[in-house]
Amino acid sequence: MIDLWYKDAVFYEVYIRAYHDSNADGHGDLAGLTEKLDYLKELGVDCLWLLPIYPSPLKDDGYDIADYYGVHSTYGSVDDFKTLVDEAHARGLRIIADLVLNHTSDQHPWFQAARQDKDSPYRDYYVWSDSDQKYTGTRIIFTDTEPSNWSWDEAAGQYFWHRFFATQPDLNFDNPAVREEMKKVAKFWLDMGIDGFRADAVPYLIEREGTGNENLPETHEYLKELRAFIDQHYPGRVLLCEANMWPEDVRPYFGDPSIPGQAEFQMGFHFPIMPRIFMALKKGDVSDMVEIINRTPPIPAECQWCTFLRNHDELTLEMVTEEERQWMWQHYAPEPRMKLNLGIRRRLAPLLDNNRRKIELANSILFTLTGSPIIYYGDEIGMGDNIWLDDRNGVRTPMQWNPDPSAGFSDAAPEGFYAPVIDSTPYGPDSVNVADQQADPKSLLNTIQKMIAIRKQYKAFGWGDFKWIDTGTAAVAAYRRKYKDERLLIFNNLTDQIQTVSIPVARVTNVYPIDILGNRRLPPLENGYLSLMLAPYRYLWLRI
Ligand code: BGC
Repeated sequence: MIDLWYKDAVFYEVYIRAYHDSNADGHGDLAGLTEKLDYLKELGVDCLWLLPIYPSPLKDDGYDIADYYGVHSTYGSVDDFKTLVDEAHARGLRIIADLVLNHTSDQHPWFQAARQDKDSPYRDYYVWSDSDQKYTGTRIIFTDTEPSNWSWDEAAGQYFWHRFFATQPDLNFDNPAVREEMKKVAKFWLDMGIDGFRADAVPYLIEREGTGNENLPETHEYLKELRAFIDQHYPGRVLLCEANMWPEDVRPYFGDPSIPGQAEFQMGFHFPIMPRIFMALKKGDVSDMVEIINRTPPIPAECQWCTFLRNHDELTLEMVTEEERQWMWQHYAPEPRMKLNLGIRRRLAPLLDNNRRKIELANSILFTLTGSPIIYYGDEIGMGDNIWLDDRNGVRTPMQWNPDPSAGFSDAAPEGFYAPVIDSTPYGPDSVNVADQQADPKSLLNTIQKMIAIRKQYKAFGWGDFKWIDTGTAAVAAYRRKYKDERLLIFNNLTDQIQTVSIPVARVTNVYPIDILGNRRLPPLENGYLSLMLAPYRYLWLRI
Protein backbone atom coordinates (compact mmCIF):
# COMPACT_ATOMS: atom_id res chain seq x y z
CA MET A 1 0.00 0.00 0.00
CA ILE A 2 1.37 3.36 -1.04
CA ASP A 3 0.98 6.15 1.48
CA LEU A 4 -0.92 9.03 -0.12
CA TRP A 5 0.35 11.46 2.53
CA TYR A 6 0.37 14.40 0.12
CA LYS A 7 -3.43 14.25 -0.21
CA ASP A 8 -3.84 16.10 3.04
CA ALA A 9 -0.43 17.58 3.68
CA VAL A 10 0.40 21.22 4.27
CA PHE A 11 3.47 22.33 2.34
CA TYR A 12 5.95 25.09 3.08
CA GLU A 13 8.18 26.63 0.45
CA VAL A 14 11.69 27.49 1.64
CA TYR A 15 14.23 29.66 -0.08
CA ILE A 16 17.43 28.43 1.57
CA ARG A 17 19.42 31.60 0.94
CA ALA A 18 16.82 33.62 2.83
CA TYR A 19 16.00 31.33 5.69
CA HIS A 20 18.73 31.15 8.26
CA ASP A 21 22.49 31.61 8.08
CA SER A 22 24.40 29.19 10.33
CA ASN A 23 27.94 30.32 9.52
CA ALA A 24 27.71 34.11 9.46
CA ASP A 25 28.55 34.57 5.78
CA GLY A 26 25.36 36.49 5.06
CA HIS A 27 23.73 33.67 3.09
CA GLY A 28 21.19 31.26 4.46
CA ASP A 29 22.27 27.64 4.29
CA LEU A 30 21.14 24.05 4.75
CA ALA A 31 22.49 23.86 8.30
CA GLY A 32 20.57 27.04 9.06
CA LEU A 33 17.34 25.45 7.89
CA THR A 34 18.11 22.34 9.96
CA GLU A 35 18.31 24.60 13.03
CA LYS A 36 14.82 25.88 12.26
CA LEU A 37 13.08 22.54 11.77
CA ASP A 38 11.53 22.69 15.23
CA TYR A 39 9.89 25.97 14.28
CA LEU A 40 8.40 24.37 11.18
CA LYS A 41 7.30 21.33 13.12
CA GLU A 42 5.53 23.57 15.59
CA LEU A 43 3.90 25.52 12.79
CA GLY A 44 2.42 22.20 11.77
CA VAL A 45 3.51 21.90 8.16
CA ASP A 46 4.14 18.42 6.77
CA CYS A 47 6.48 18.89 3.85
CA LEU A 48 9.13 21.42 2.88
CA TRP A 49 9.73 22.32 -0.74
CA LEU A 50 13.28 23.56 -1.23
CA LEU A 51 14.04 25.96 -4.05
CA PRO A 52 17.12 24.89 -6.06
CA ILE A 53 20.16 24.29 -3.89
CA TYR A 54 22.60 23.25 -6.62
CA PRO A 55 25.82 24.89 -7.84
CA SER A 56 24.76 27.75 -10.06
CA PRO A 57 25.89 31.16 -11.28
CA LEU A 58 22.54 32.33 -9.87
CA LYS A 59 21.42 34.21 -12.95
CA ASP A 60 17.97 32.80 -12.19
CA ASP A 61 18.52 32.23 -8.49
CA GLY A 62 19.53 28.61 -8.88
CA TYR A 63 17.08 27.62 -11.62
CA ASP A 64 20.17 27.85 -13.80
CA ILE A 65 22.00 24.73 -12.68
CA ALA A 66 25.70 24.25 -13.38
CA ASP A 67 25.99 20.89 -11.62
CA TYR A 68 23.05 18.64 -10.81
CA TYR A 69 25.02 16.58 -8.31
CA GLY A 70 26.19 19.12 -5.79
CA VAL A 71 25.15 21.85 -3.40
CA HIS A 72 25.87 25.52 -3.99
CA SER A 73 28.93 26.39 -1.88
CA THR A 74 27.22 29.06 0.21
CA TYR A 75 24.40 26.64 1.05
CA GLY A 76 26.70 23.94 2.43
CA SER A 77 27.50 20.44 1.26
CA VAL A 78 25.81 17.24 0.20
CA ASP A 79 26.48 16.00 3.75
CA ASP A 80 24.60 19.00 5.13
CA PHE A 81 21.77 18.05 2.83
CA LYS A 82 21.73 14.49 4.16
CA THR A 83 21.69 15.80 7.71
CA LEU A 84 18.78 18.07 6.85
CA VAL A 85 16.80 15.20 5.36
CA ASP A 86 17.52 12.95 8.34
CA GLU A 87 16.67 15.62 10.89
CA ALA A 88 13.48 16.48 9.04
CA HIS A 89 12.44 12.84 8.88
CA ALA A 90 13.23 12.41 12.56
CA ARG A 91 10.60 15.08 13.21
CA GLY A 92 8.07 13.59 10.82
CA LEU A 93 8.66 16.32 8.25
CA ARG A 94 9.13 15.51 4.58
CA ILE A 95 11.26 17.23 1.99
CA ILE A 96 10.85 17.68 -1.72
CA ALA A 97 13.45 19.38 -3.89
CA ASP A 98 13.26 21.25 -7.16
CA LEU A 99 13.92 19.19 -10.25
CA VAL A 100 14.84 21.46 -13.13
CA LEU A 101 14.46 19.40 -16.29
CA ASN A 102 13.90 21.90 -19.06
CA HIS A 103 17.21 23.74 -19.04
CA THR A 104 20.66 24.05 -17.51
CA SER A 105 22.87 27.05 -16.87
CA ASP A 106 25.02 28.15 -19.79
CA GLN A 107 27.88 27.47 -17.36
CA HIS A 108 27.02 23.77 -17.18
CA PRO A 109 29.90 21.68 -18.59
CA TRP A 110 27.46 20.09 -21.06
CA PHE A 111 26.69 23.45 -22.61
CA GLN A 112 30.31 24.55 -22.54
CA ALA A 113 31.32 21.38 -24.37
CA ALA A 114 28.38 21.71 -26.75
CA ARG A 115 29.11 25.24 -27.85
CA GLN A 116 32.81 24.67 -28.38
CA ASP A 117 32.62 21.57 -30.52
CA LYS A 118 30.04 20.66 -33.13
CA ASP A 119 31.09 17.03 -32.84
CA SER A 120 30.89 16.82 -29.08
CA PRO A 121 28.29 14.31 -27.87
CA TYR A 122 26.94 17.19 -25.79
CA ARG A 123 26.13 19.31 -28.84
CA ASP A 124 22.87 17.46 -29.25
CA TYR A 125 22.02 17.93 -25.55
CA TYR A 126 20.71 21.36 -26.53
CA VAL A 127 18.48 22.81 -29.25
CA TRP A 128 20.40 24.61 -32.02
CA SER A 129 19.48 26.35 -35.22
CA ASP A 130 21.14 28.33 -37.98
CA SER A 131 18.17 30.63 -38.02
CA ASP A 132 16.21 32.37 -35.29
CA GLN A 133 13.05 32.00 -37.35
CA LYS A 134 12.21 28.48 -36.19
CA TYR A 135 9.30 27.90 -33.79
CA THR A 136 7.97 31.40 -34.29
CA GLY A 137 4.64 30.43 -32.74
CA THR A 138 6.20 30.21 -29.27
CA ARG A 139 5.44 32.87 -26.68
CA ILE A 140 8.13 34.52 -24.59
CA ILE A 141 7.84 33.99 -20.83
CA PHE A 142 10.29 36.54 -19.41
CA THR A 143 8.79 39.36 -21.47
CA ASP A 144 10.59 42.12 -19.58
CA THR A 145 14.09 40.89 -20.43
CA GLU A 146 14.08 38.44 -23.34
CA PRO A 147 13.40 39.67 -26.87
CA SER A 148 13.51 36.16 -28.33
CA ASN A 149 13.60 32.47 -27.38
CA TRP A 150 16.73 32.19 -29.54
CA SER A 151 20.16 33.57 -28.67
CA TRP A 152 23.24 33.59 -30.85
CA ASP A 153 26.26 31.76 -29.50
CA GLU A 154 29.48 33.01 -31.02
CA ALA A 155 31.56 29.93 -30.19
CA ALA A 156 28.94 27.56 -31.55
CA GLY A 157 28.18 29.68 -34.59
CA GLN A 158 24.50 28.87 -34.12
CA TYR A 159 21.46 30.03 -32.23
CA PHE A 160 20.37 28.09 -29.14
CA TRP A 161 16.82 27.78 -27.83
CA HIS A 162 15.78 28.99 -24.37
CA ARG A 163 12.31 29.49 -22.88
CA PHE A 164 13.65 31.49 -19.93
CA PHE A 165 16.75 33.70 -19.59
CA ALA A 166 19.37 33.50 -22.35
CA THR A 167 21.67 32.12 -19.64
CA GLN A 168 19.40 29.03 -19.45
CA PRO A 169 19.71 26.97 -22.64
CA ASP A 170 16.92 24.41 -23.06
CA LEU A 171 17.88 20.76 -23.02
CA ASN A 172 16.92 18.65 -26.01
CA PHE A 173 14.49 15.99 -24.77
CA ASP A 174 14.43 14.35 -28.18
CA ASN A 175 17.89 13.11 -27.31
CA PRO A 176 17.71 9.75 -25.46
CA ALA A 177 20.94 10.61 -23.62
CA VAL A 178 19.29 13.71 -22.09
CA ARG A 179 16.26 11.67 -21.08
CA GLU A 180 18.54 9.25 -19.22
CA GLU A 181 20.69 11.99 -17.68
CA MET A 182 17.68 13.52 -15.99
CA LYS A 183 16.60 10.17 -14.57
CA LYS A 184 20.09 9.82 -13.12
CA VAL A 185 19.71 13.24 -11.52
CA ALA A 186 16.39 12.22 -9.98
CA LYS A 187 17.96 8.98 -8.74
CA PHE A 188 20.85 10.80 -7.06
CA TRP A 189 18.58 12.91 -4.87
CA LEU A 190 16.00 10.20 -4.26
CA ASP A 191 18.83 7.98 -3.04
CA MET A 192 19.45 10.64 -0.42
CA GLY A 193 16.02 9.92 0.95
CA ILE A 194 14.01 12.90 -0.22
CA ASP A 195 10.28 12.44 -0.55
CA GLY A 196 9.94 13.69 -4.08
CA PHE A 197 10.30 16.64 -6.39
CA ARG A 198 8.60 19.78 -7.49
CA ALA A 199 9.30 19.54 -11.21
CA ASP A 200 10.04 22.92 -12.76
CA ALA A 201 8.62 24.26 -16.00
CA VAL A 202 7.52 20.91 -17.40
CA PRO A 203 5.31 22.09 -20.29
CA TYR A 204 8.30 23.17 -22.33
CA LEU A 205 10.45 20.06 -22.64
CA ILE A 206 9.93 19.30 -26.35
CA GLU A 207 9.75 21.50 -29.45
CA ARG A 208 7.82 20.84 -32.65
CA GLU A 209 7.49 23.21 -35.60
CA GLY A 210 4.03 24.60 -36.11
CA THR A 211 3.04 24.37 -32.43
CA GLY A 212 3.28 26.72 -29.47
CA ASN A 213 5.79 24.24 -28.00
CA GLU A 214 3.84 23.79 -24.79
CA ASN A 215 2.09 20.68 -23.40
CA LEU A 216 3.07 18.58 -26.43
CA PRO A 217 2.19 14.86 -26.46
CA GLU A 218 5.90 14.08 -26.73
CA THR A 219 6.51 16.03 -23.52
CA HIS A 220 3.87 13.95 -21.76
CA GLU A 221 5.54 10.81 -23.06
CA TYR A 222 8.79 11.72 -21.35
CA LEU A 223 7.04 12.61 -18.11
CA LYS A 224 5.36 9.20 -18.10
CA GLU A 225 8.74 7.62 -18.65
CA LEU A 226 10.21 9.56 -15.74
CA ARG A 227 7.32 8.68 -13.43
CA ALA A 228 7.54 4.99 -14.37
CA PHE A 229 11.25 5.07 -13.54
CA ILE A 230 10.57 6.64 -10.14
CA ASP A 231 7.66 4.30 -9.37
CA GLN A 232 9.79 1.31 -10.20
CA HIS A 233 12.76 2.26 -8.04
CA TYR A 234 11.26 4.62 -5.47
CA PRO A 235 7.57 3.81 -5.07
CA GLY A 236 5.64 6.39 -3.10
CA ARG A 237 7.87 9.37 -3.84
CA VAL A 238 5.82 12.29 -5.04
CA LEU A 239 6.06 14.44 -8.13
CA LEU A 240 4.53 17.90 -8.07
CA CYS A 241 3.95 19.52 -11.43
CA GLU A 242 4.67 23.14 -12.18
CA ALA A 243 2.58 23.80 -15.27
CA ASN A 244 1.26 27.35 -15.30
CA MET A 245 -1.68 26.42 -17.49
CA TRP A 246 -5.48 26.30 -17.61
CA PRO A 247 -7.04 23.46 -15.59
CA GLU A 248 -7.96 21.46 -18.69
CA ASP A 249 -4.33 21.66 -19.85
CA VAL A 250 -2.97 20.63 -16.44
CA ARG A 251 -5.29 17.61 -16.24
CA PRO A 252 -3.13 15.51 -18.65
CA TYR A 253 -0.13 16.02 -16.35
CA PHE A 254 -1.78 13.70 -13.83
CA GLY A 255 -1.95 11.04 -16.53
CA ASP A 256 -3.97 7.93 -15.83
CA PRO A 257 -2.54 6.13 -12.80
CA SER A 258 -4.97 3.23 -13.25
CA ILE A 259 -3.09 2.11 -16.36
CA PRO A 260 0.49 0.90 -15.91
CA GLY A 261 2.95 3.36 -17.43
CA GLN A 262 0.32 6.07 -17.92
CA ALA A 263 0.75 8.00 -14.66
CA GLU A 264 2.56 11.34 -14.65
CA PHE A 265 2.31 13.56 -11.54
CA GLN A 266 0.55 12.90 -8.24
CA MET A 267 0.23 16.64 -7.69
CA GLY A 268 -0.14 19.78 -9.75
CA PHE A 269 -0.24 23.44 -8.81
CA HIS A 270 -3.60 25.05 -9.47
CA PHE A 271 -2.34 28.30 -11.00
CA PRO A 272 -5.60 29.86 -12.23
CA ILE A 273 -7.42 29.80 -8.89
CA MET A 274 -4.71 31.98 -7.32
CA PRO A 275 -5.31 35.35 -9.04
CA ARG A 276 -9.06 34.74 -8.74
CA ILE A 277 -8.77 34.60 -4.96
CA PHE A 278 -7.23 38.07 -5.12
CA MET A 279 -9.96 39.18 -7.54
CA ALA A 280 -12.63 37.88 -5.17
CA LEU A 281 -11.10 39.67 -2.19
CA LYS A 282 -10.91 42.98 -4.02
CA LYS A 283 -14.30 42.79 -5.75
CA GLY A 284 -16.09 41.28 -2.78
CA ASP A 285 -17.46 38.76 -5.24
CA VAL A 286 -16.80 35.03 -5.46
CA SER A 287 -17.92 34.59 -9.10
CA ASP A 288 -14.46 34.34 -10.69
CA MET A 289 -13.44 31.63 -8.22
CA VAL A 290 -16.64 29.70 -8.89
CA GLU A 291 -16.12 29.87 -12.62
CA ILE A 292 -12.57 28.48 -12.51
CA ILE A 293 -13.30 25.75 -9.96
CA ASN A 294 -16.33 24.63 -11.95
CA ARG A 295 -14.13 24.58 -15.03
CA THR A 296 -11.56 22.35 -13.30
CA PRO A 297 -11.86 18.73 -14.45
CA PRO A 298 -11.88 15.92 -11.92
CA ILE A 299 -8.51 14.32 -11.26
CA PRO A 300 -7.67 10.71 -10.32
CA ALA A 301 -8.44 9.81 -6.69
CA GLU A 302 -4.78 9.38 -5.75
CA CYS A 303 -3.87 12.81 -7.16
CA GLN A 304 -4.13 16.20 -5.56
CA TRP A 305 -4.08 19.87 -6.49
CA CYS A 306 -1.67 22.19 -4.78
CA THR A 307 -3.00 25.61 -3.90
CA PHE A 308 -1.03 28.71 -3.00
CA LEU A 309 -1.46 32.43 -2.51
CA ARG A 310 2.11 33.51 -3.20
CA ASN A 311 5.44 31.96 -4.06
CA HIS A 312 9.00 32.97 -4.94
CA ASP A 313 8.00 34.26 -8.39
CA GLU A 314 5.89 37.22 -9.38
CA LEU A 315 2.17 36.73 -8.75
CA THR A 316 1.60 35.37 -12.21
CA LEU A 317 -1.19 36.76 -14.37
CA GLU A 318 -0.72 34.35 -17.22
CA MET A 319 -3.93 32.49 -16.44
CA VAL A 320 -6.34 35.42 -16.72
CA THR A 321 -7.75 37.35 -19.68
CA GLU A 322 -6.05 40.54 -20.89
CA GLU A 323 -8.85 42.57 -19.36
CA GLU A 324 -8.50 40.79 -16.00
CA ARG A 325 -4.74 41.30 -16.10
CA GLN A 326 -5.14 45.03 -16.55
CA TRP A 327 -7.66 45.02 -13.70
CA MET A 328 -5.27 43.12 -11.42
CA TRP A 329 -2.41 45.48 -12.22
CA GLN A 330 -4.60 48.49 -11.64
CA HIS A 331 -5.73 47.24 -8.23
CA TYR A 332 -2.71 45.34 -6.98
CA ALA A 333 0.25 46.99 -8.74
CA PRO A 334 -0.41 50.70 -8.67
CA GLU A 335 3.32 51.51 -8.97
CA PRO A 336 5.25 50.52 -12.11
CA ARG A 337 7.96 48.77 -10.05
CA MET A 338 5.37 46.40 -8.68
CA LYS A 339 4.88 44.87 -12.12
CA LEU A 340 7.15 42.19 -13.54
CA ASN A 341 6.67 40.30 -16.80
CA LEU A 342 3.00 39.27 -16.76
CA GLY A 343 2.74 39.55 -13.02
CA ILE A 344 3.12 41.41 -9.75
CA ARG A 345 6.22 41.22 -7.59
CA ARG A 346 4.69 41.71 -4.16
CA ARG A 347 4.13 39.62 -1.07
CA LEU A 348 0.85 38.61 0.47
CA ALA A 349 0.67 41.10 3.33
CA PRO A 350 1.38 44.24 1.25
CA LEU A 351 -0.99 43.01 -1.48
CA LEU A 352 -3.73 42.85 1.13
CA ASP A 353 -2.92 46.30 2.57
CA ASN A 354 -1.42 44.63 5.61
CA ASN A 355 -5.01 44.24 6.71
CA ARG A 356 -5.06 41.46 9.27
CA ARG A 357 -8.64 40.43 8.53
CA LYS A 358 -8.01 40.18 4.80
CA ILE A 359 -4.79 38.22 5.33
CA GLU A 360 -6.58 35.77 7.59
CA LEU A 361 -9.46 35.50 5.16
CA ALA A 362 -7.11 34.71 2.27
CA ASN A 363 -5.52 32.00 4.39
CA SER A 364 -8.92 30.66 5.38
CA ILE A 365 -9.69 30.19 1.69
CA LEU A 366 -6.27 28.64 1.06
CA PHE A 367 -6.66 26.09 3.86
CA THR A 368 -10.22 25.03 3.05
CA LEU A 369 -10.39 24.94 -0.74
CA THR A 370 -9.87 21.73 -2.59
CA GLY A 371 -6.16 20.76 -2.74
CA SER A 372 -3.11 20.75 -0.49
CA PRO A 373 -1.99 24.25 0.50
CA ILE A 374 1.51 25.66 0.26
CA ILE A 375 2.70 28.49 2.46
CA TYR A 376 5.47 30.71 1.14
CA TYR A 377 8.12 31.28 3.81
CA GLY A 378 7.53 34.49 5.73
CA ASP A 379 3.87 34.82 4.76
CA GLU A 380 2.93 33.07 8.01
CA ILE A 381 4.17 36.18 9.85
CA GLY A 382 3.01 38.69 7.24
CA MET A 383 6.41 39.71 5.87
CA GLY A 384 6.69 42.67 3.51
CA ASP A 385 8.53 43.05 0.21
CA ASN A 386 11.07 45.38 -1.38
CA ILE A 387 10.04 46.42 -4.87
CA TRP A 388 13.34 48.26 -5.37
CA LEU A 389 15.27 45.02 -5.67
CA ASP A 390 15.54 43.64 -9.18
CA ASP A 391 13.69 40.77 -10.79
CA ARG A 392 11.84 38.71 -8.14
CA ASN A 393 14.36 39.43 -5.38
CA GLY A 394 12.00 41.73 -3.54
CA VAL A 395 9.96 38.74 -2.34
CA ARG A 396 13.07 36.74 -1.42
CA THR A 397 14.45 38.82 1.46
CA PRO A 398 15.82 37.42 4.76
CA MET A 399 13.36 35.64 7.01
CA GLN A 400 12.56 37.74 10.06
CA TRP A 401 13.16 35.72 13.19
CA ASN A 402 13.48 38.44 15.81
CA PRO A 403 13.28 42.23 16.20
CA ASP A 404 17.02 42.89 15.74
CA PRO A 405 18.07 44.92 12.70
CA SER A 406 19.60 41.66 11.38
CA ALA A 407 16.19 40.02 11.91
CA GLY A 408 18.04 37.17 13.59
CA PHE A 409 18.75 35.88 10.11
CA SER A 410 22.54 35.96 10.33
CA ASP A 411 25.42 36.98 12.57
CA ALA A 412 27.22 38.61 9.65
CA ALA A 413 27.30 42.37 9.37
CA PRO A 414 24.05 43.35 7.60
CA GLU A 415 26.04 44.98 4.74
CA GLY A 416 27.22 41.48 3.93
CA PHE A 417 23.74 39.95 3.69
CA TYR A 418 22.85 38.51 0.26
CA ALA A 419 19.92 40.95 0.30
CA PRO A 420 18.85 43.71 2.68
CA VAL A 421 16.41 42.91 5.45
CA ILE A 422 13.04 44.62 4.87
CA ASP A 423 13.21 47.92 6.71
CA SER A 424 10.11 49.73 5.52
CA THR A 425 7.40 50.56 8.04
CA PRO A 426 5.40 48.60 9.07
CA TYR A 427 7.23 45.53 7.78
CA GLY A 428 10.66 45.84 9.43
CA PRO A 429 11.78 43.14 11.87
CA ASP A 430 10.90 45.39 14.80
CA SER A 431 7.24 44.97 13.89
CA VAL A 432 7.18 41.68 11.95
CA ASN A 433 9.12 38.74 13.38
CA VAL A 434 8.70 35.18 14.57
CA ALA A 435 9.79 35.65 18.19
CA ASP A 436 7.25 38.36 18.98
CA GLN A 437 4.48 36.51 17.22
CA GLN A 438 5.26 33.28 19.04
CA ALA A 439 4.84 35.14 22.31
CA ASP A 440 1.52 36.68 21.29
CA PRO A 441 -1.40 34.22 21.27
CA LYS A 442 -3.35 36.54 18.97
CA SER A 443 -0.58 36.91 16.35
CA LEU A 444 -0.96 35.99 12.70
CA LEU A 445 1.58 33.20 13.22
CA ASN A 446 -0.52 31.65 15.97
CA THR A 447 -3.68 32.06 13.92
CA ILE A 448 -2.13 30.26 10.96
CA GLN A 449 -0.74 27.58 13.22
CA LYS A 450 -4.23 27.03 14.56
CA MET A 451 -5.78 26.88 11.09
CA ILE A 452 -3.26 24.19 10.16
CA ALA A 453 -3.92 22.23 13.35
CA ILE A 454 -7.68 22.32 12.84
CA ARG A 455 -7.35 21.46 9.18
CA LYS A 456 -5.44 18.35 10.18
CA GLN A 457 -8.25 17.11 12.37
CA TYR A 458 -10.57 16.69 9.38
CA LYS A 459 -10.07 14.34 6.48
CA ALA A 460 -12.66 16.27 4.51
CA PHE A 461 -10.14 18.99 3.60
CA GLY A 462 -7.73 16.69 1.82
CA TRP A 463 -10.00 13.82 0.84
CA GLY A 464 -13.47 15.25 0.78
CA ASP A 465 -15.53 16.46 -2.13
CA PHE A 466 -16.08 20.13 -2.78
CA LYS A 467 -19.39 21.78 -3.50
CA TRP A 468 -20.29 25.45 -3.74
CA ILE A 469 -23.14 26.55 -1.48
CA ASP A 470 -25.59 29.02 -2.94
CA THR A 471 -26.11 31.63 -0.25
CA GLY A 472 -27.98 33.97 -2.54
CA THR A 473 -25.10 36.45 -2.48
CA ALA A 474 -21.77 36.46 -4.32
CA ALA A 475 -20.30 38.41 -1.41
CA VAL A 476 -19.72 35.18 0.52
CA ALA A 477 -17.49 32.34 -0.66
CA ALA A 478 -19.34 29.37 0.80
CA TYR A 479 -18.72 25.71 0.16
CA ARG A 480 -19.20 22.30 1.59
CA ARG A 481 -16.40 19.79 2.18
CA LYS A 482 -17.61 16.26 2.81
CA TYR A 483 -15.86 13.00 3.54
CA LYS A 484 -17.69 9.95 4.88
CA ASP A 485 -19.66 11.26 7.87
CA GLU A 486 -17.64 14.46 8.12
CA ARG A 487 -19.55 17.43 6.82
CA LEU A 488 -17.95 20.88 6.91
CA LEU A 489 -19.44 24.14 5.77
CA ILE A 490 -17.06 26.99 5.08
CA PHE A 491 -18.10 30.64 4.87
CA ASN A 492 -15.82 33.50 3.87
CA ASN A 493 -17.26 37.01 3.84
CA LEU A 494 -15.35 38.70 1.03
CA THR A 495 -16.55 42.20 1.84
CA ASP A 496 -16.10 44.95 4.39
CA GLN A 497 -19.86 44.81 5.10
CA ILE A 498 -21.84 42.54 7.39
CA GLN A 499 -23.41 39.72 5.38
CA THR A 500 -26.32 37.60 6.50
CA VAL A 501 -26.97 34.25 4.93
CA SER A 502 -29.55 31.60 5.49
CA ILE A 503 -29.28 28.20 3.87
CA PRO A 504 -31.19 24.93 4.22
CA VAL A 505 -28.94 22.32 5.81
CA ALA A 506 -30.85 19.47 7.40
CA ARG A 507 -34.30 18.01 7.59
CA VAL A 508 -33.82 16.44 10.99
CA THR A 509 -34.25 18.30 14.24
CA ASN A 510 -31.64 18.80 16.91
CA VAL A 511 -28.85 19.51 14.49
CA TYR A 512 -26.39 22.13 15.60
CA PRO A 513 -23.24 23.44 13.97
CA ILE A 514 -19.86 23.65 15.65
CA ASP A 515 -17.44 26.43 14.86
CA ILE A 516 -14.31 24.28 14.64
CA LEU A 517 -11.85 27.18 14.76
CA GLY A 518 -13.55 28.87 17.70
CA ASN A 519 -14.37 25.52 19.29
CA ARG A 520 -17.90 26.59 20.20
CA ARG A 521 -21.36 25.28 19.59
CA LEU A 522 -23.72 27.48 17.60
CA PRO A 523 -27.47 27.55 18.34
CA PRO A 524 -29.38 24.64 16.82
CA LEU A 525 -30.75 25.02 13.32
CA GLU A 526 -34.21 26.46 13.00
CA ASN A 527 -36.46 24.39 10.73
CA GLY A 528 -33.36 22.94 9.15
CA TYR A 529 -32.04 26.38 8.20
CA LEU A 530 -28.61 27.69 9.10
CA SER A 531 -28.68 31.45 9.51
CA LEU A 532 -25.47 33.38 9.99
CA MET A 533 -24.45 36.95 10.38
CA LEU A 534 -20.89 37.36 9.15
CA ALA A 535 -18.86 40.36 10.23
CA PRO A 536 -16.71 42.08 7.55
CA TYR A 537 -14.06 39.66 6.20
CA ARG A 538 -15.21 37.06 8.73
CA TYR A 539 -14.59 33.39 8.01
CA LEU A 540 -16.29 30.47 9.67
CA TRP A 541 -15.46 26.80 9.45
CA LEU A 542 -18.48 24.83 10.66
CA ARG A 543 -18.98 21.19 11.33
CA ILE A 544 -22.54 19.98 11.14
C1 BGC B 1 10.44 28.94 -11.50
C2 BGC B 1 11.08 30.27 -11.75
C3 BGC B 1 12.19 30.08 -12.76
C4 BGC B 1 11.70 29.36 -14.02
C5 BGC B 1 12.81 28.89 -14.88
C6 BGC B 1 9.92 28.57 -12.84
O1 BGC B 1 8.71 28.48 -13.19
O2 BGC B 1 9.43 28.99 -10.55
O3 BGC B 1 11.56 30.82 -10.56
O4 BGC B 1 12.70 31.32 -13.11
O5 BGC B 1 10.94 28.23 -13.71
O6 BGC B 1 13.48 27.82 -14.28
